[in-house]
Amino acid sequence: MAKTQTIAWVNHLLLFSLIALTLVFISYFTIHHNSASLAKYLTETTAAGVTFQQQYAASNVAGGNTCSGRYIYVHHLPTRFNDDVFNSCRDSSLLKNPDMCPNLSNLGFGAQVNIKNPSGDQGLITERLASSWYATNHFSLEVIFRHRLMKSYDCLTNDSSLASLIYVPFYPGFDIVRHLWGNYNTTVRDALGFELVSWLKNQPNWKTSGLWGRDHFFVSGRIAWDLRRPDDDDSHWGSKLMQLPEAMNMTMLSIETTSWSNELGIPYPTYFHPRRVKEVHRWQKRMTRQKRPYLFSFVGGPRANMTDSIRGELINQCLASRRNCKLLNCHSANCTSPIEVLKVFRNSVFCLQPAGDSYTRRSTFDSILAGCIPVFFHPFSAYTQYIWHLPRNYSSYSVYIPENLVREGIVSIRMQLLQVSKAEVVSMRQEVINLIPKVIYRDPRSKSKDFEDAFDIAIKGMLERVGKVRRQIEEGKDPGTGFAEPGSWKLKLEEGWYRERS
Ligand SMILES: *[C@@H]1O[C@H](CO)[C@@H](O)[C@H](O)[C@H]1NC(C)=O
Ligand SMILES: *[C@@H]1O[C@H](CO)[C@@H](O)[C@H](O)[C@H]1NC(C)=O
Ligand SMILES: *[C@@H]1O[C@H](CO)[C@@H](O)[C@H](O)[C@H]1NC(C)=O
Ligand SMILES: *[C@@H]1O[C@H](CO)[C@@H](O)[C@H](O)[C@H]1NC(C)=O
Ligand SMILES: *[C@@H]1O[C@H](CO)[C@@H](O)[C@H](O)[C@H]1NC(C)=O
Ligand SMILES: *[C@@H]1O[C@H](CO)[C@@H](O)[C@H](O)[C@H]1NC(C)=O
Ligand SMILES: *[C@@H]1O[C@H](CO)[C@@H](O)[C@H](O)[C@H]1NC(C)=O
Repeated sequence: MAKTQTIAWVNHLLLFSLIALTLVFISYFTIHHNSASLAKYLTETTAAGVTFQQQYAASNVAGGNTCSGRYIYVHHLPTRFNDDVFNSCRDSSLLKNPDMCPNLSNLGFGAQVNIKNPSGDQGLITERLASSWYATNHFSLEVIFRHRLMKSYDCLTNDSSLASLIYVPFYPGFDIVRHLWGNYNTTVRDALGFELVSWLKNQPNWKTSGLWGRDHFFVSGRIAWDLRRPDDDDSHWGSKLMQLPEAMNMTMLSIETTSWSNELGIPYPTYFHPRRVKEVHRWQKRMTRQKRPYLFSFVGGPRANMTDSIRGELINQCLASRRNCKLLNCHSANCTSPIEVLKVFRNSVFCLQPAGDSYTRRSTFDSILAGCIPVFFHPFSAYTQYIWHLPRNYSSYSVYIPENLVREGIVSIRMQLLQVSKAEVVSMRQEVINLIPKVIYRDPRSKSKDFEDAFDIAIKGMLERVGKVRRQIEEGKDPGTGFAEPGSWKLKLEEGWYRERS
């Protein structure tokens, strides 16, 4: 077949895949939700709503320098809900899987990267930037977020009647990870969650202003799927924290959400935790000037036991185009070393981000950090997750290749990526590099607060979300409307776009 014909053929398949994708969405939906809500979904998708961006812009106009409308009250939780969980996570019994129980020194960032290490950073991180880099574990967000809020948020209050938001410094991820493996029954897995909600709802500020907990939020450093077991079958995964009626009145921020609307995605923690914007600019400049010898790269391992996984195919394609692709196979290489990972990404134009054990990956944020344009294979890997942090127009900063085309061996990654013009690459890379400050968590020990980081953006999003609930109450409407529903806007893709629920 001539090359042009092949391209036309690939284009046809892309069109076909869009239709197929829609079908996948509908079938996903049908499996996970009942048909009544499917009908609701189908009718709702045709109604255009106010976009998230519009709402967000409106909320920015009102922002001033005062704390009015931005106060956060932090619950004084008994230590059994956080510090004790954290300490038991350090127990020797849990260290059989060291990746699950990280060393969370330095406010959750982990050990500082040692650039003097003999294995060498080969000029990746300069002396001037060295103190901002840490070997941060990808599941440590609940600790990082808590420190960031307690140490460096400037509008904390002990008067909950003043507060716009109530933060619950619970560690749901560290709690459940103790019981995910080892045949613990559901009673054991759910115990602390039950205790938490009964503690919360007995506090005087639960029912404040008719909110019934809707101003409350907490953060999970693990994926939401670990906390949303649908029933009491011991053989099913995770805890049922998010199914408890009280949790239905709260919001959870986590690294990966399900389709429920009271879960919002926020970036995984990456390795860079600068104190000042100056350091961010210095790093952005280096990544802009960086020469990138590889067209694309993949850092990860195969999922031999997951029949649906496309990782094997991606690895094969990468190996087959050795001149264009750099592979760091985590089964043989050290992928926990920030230096090794970043070295690969900063040398690549595109970075493949297929689903792994779940849809999302921390690697997405590592690649953004290195100015490498992410390539996604599923909308749940980023587009439906980080709506507060990533641009709504996903083609402005990433490439999307539907997973099924890869699975069926129809599409050549290399050919697809070669079709992206130089000008498009430059513009996408600039967008990616501009995203860097928005997806990192600033060092809260810094006195200067000179840039908006992932935390600041998450708080803005929460203030807007709860503000909307308060307005609903003022208007005499049910504050529960749209607050926690399955199959929310996250499942709605239309003309390649997803829509915020109206
Ligand atoms: C782990 O924590 C201990 C004590 O908090 C500290 O001394 C050690 O350096 C840490 N190790 C790493 C690799 O972070
Ligand atoms: C709130 O109260 C605690 C305990 O009394 C105190 O340590 C903390 O500094 C207070 N926080 C604020 C923001 O006033
Ligand atoms: C669950 O496991 C705990 C601890 O092993 C045990 O005490 C409890 O009886 C079990 N509960 C049920 C319902 O099996
Ligand atoms: C959740 O909020 C509704 C009001 O919208 C309230 O009726 C219900 O009791 C609340 N649930 C809990 C557990 O407080
Ligand atoms: C995959 O399955 C095989 C056989 O069931 C098992 O021995 C192996 O440990 C599994 N590998 C992983 C990575 O889970
Ligand atoms: C991998 O890198 C990490 C972080 O640099 C280091 O702590 C660990 O010992 C390394 N593991 C291996 C097997 O080299
Ligand atoms: C989305 O981004 C792409 C690439 O930058 C651009 O060509 C396109 O016009 C944008 N779409 C919208 C609706 O802004």
